Amino acid sequence: MVNRSADPTTPLPRFPADFVWGASTAAYQIEGAAEEDGKGPSIWDAFVRRPGAVRDGHTGATACDHYHRFGEDVALMRRLGLDAYRFSVSWPRVLPSGTGRVEPRGLDFYDRLVDALLDAGIEPTPTLFHWDLPQALEDQGGWMSRDTAYRLGEYAAVVAERLGDRVRRWITLNEPFVHMSFGYGFGVHAPGRALLLGAVPVAHHQLLGHGLAVAAIRAAAGPDGTQVLIANNCSPVRLRPDAASEADRLAADAYDTLHNRLFNDPLLTGSYPDLSVYGLSDPSWGGIVRDEDLKVIAAPLDGLGINYYNPSWITAPADPASGLPFDLVEPQETYRRTAFDWPVVPDGLTDLLLGLKARYGEALPPVWITENGCSEPAGLDDAARVDYLAGHVDAVARARAQGVDVRGYFTWSLLDNFEWAEGYHQRFGLVEVDFATQARTPRASFEWYRALIAAQKPQKS
Ligand code: BGC
Repeated sequence: MVNRSADPTTPLPRFPADFVWGASTAAYQIEGAAEEDGKGPSIWDAFVRRPGAVRDGHTGATACDHYHRFGEDVALMRRLGLDAYRFSVSWPRVLPSGTGRVEPRGLDFYDRLVDALLDAGIEPTPTLFHWDLPQALEDQGGWMSRDTAYRLGEYAAVVAERLGDRVRRWITLNEPFVHMSFGYGFGVHAPGRALLLGAVPVAHHQLLGHGLAVAAIRAAAGPDGTQVLIANNCSPVRLRPDAASEADRLAADAYDTLHNRLFNDPLLTGSYPDLSVYGLSDPSWGGIVRDEDLKVIAAPLDGLGINYYNPSWITAPADPASGLPFDLVEPQETYRRTAFDWPVVPDGLTDLLLGLKARYGEALPPVWITENGCSEPAGLDDAARVDYLAGHVDAVARARAQGVDVRGYFTWSLLDNFEWAEGYHQRFGLVEVDFATQARTPRASFEWYRALIAAQKPQKS
């Protein structure tokens, strides 16, 4: 696979003037100030203390110190010409115990951030839950408990009541699939529970929380043009040419069900896919899914956020006793690899978008790419990142040309930041951060993205 050229003379794809160009971050990955202004502990504050949980014992205690430096960061966004900025609200900053007492200083921070963004002409696009559950709620079962869904709804109401007069676009959850599988299935992310397939209730409880949050946002913000989205991690599933038997196809289907359909079907069609291959043949999953839940989950969405990094290659399990109906394998083809060793496959994004349209048809709302980007070695001359971004923006243009209604593209990420279990070892930023001094330096990819945005908006240049 040859990647798209990052040659600056290559014409940039054209998008409509109202296409939204953005960048994304998340609270625990950038804010720091982990114990400041009354913030309660989150599951990540606890997880990073576990020996061996995060590479080299890194933590997000200071991260990019964005809590104190957001003014500088908004100035960078303005220089970049962003239309929108996707950040997440830290639940335990606003509700230190996850429920009950609101911490006004926490809400004040997001109030100031929203105002600074609006002053810079940038649309604030908050995500309510990007994995930093208040530890107090984890102590009561976390997302294995149905109650957590109701707590998310209450928290959504608190934030929307405060910011809903200025925020027009909301995202409820970030990647419920990754939170379920990494956090509760394999235990490589907080809260570090290794329940394997026993983690599936976490999917339903997050989705129920999403539906309750949609209702809370709409009630607080009123009907005037407020948009509510969710950001799902989606991965097109591929078979290797050397492994395309019927058993492989069944395995691919099983993986697609777990990674993609489990999270998109209930939102868009109001029903779960058949999970009998995962031992859940009863539609209520043994009483987890209650009668009215799917109506709550399928509340109409204004957009579906898609976080795309790469496809998944699947074969039938080599070891039938592995407990999973698939194996995740490496592709046979040679792709360029990011610093994370992830294959760079821009056409996977086009396939994914076309596949969503084919699967959901009229039920597919407008799509937003809410994350896409790559980790690359430290340094300012990040031609590899430019190549990645150029290829993927082009992939979006190709899906649009084939009829997929994509309204915006947010790159991951504005800044180098705390990359979860990898600590500060993976750098995803358009802006390099020196974590010893907190100096921010835009990379070549920053200039490339600035030029791309400017070229789409002649009136701004
Ligand atoms: C997450 C981000 C993360 C990125 C790169 C996504 O799964 O939403 O928080 O940093 O991927 O791993």
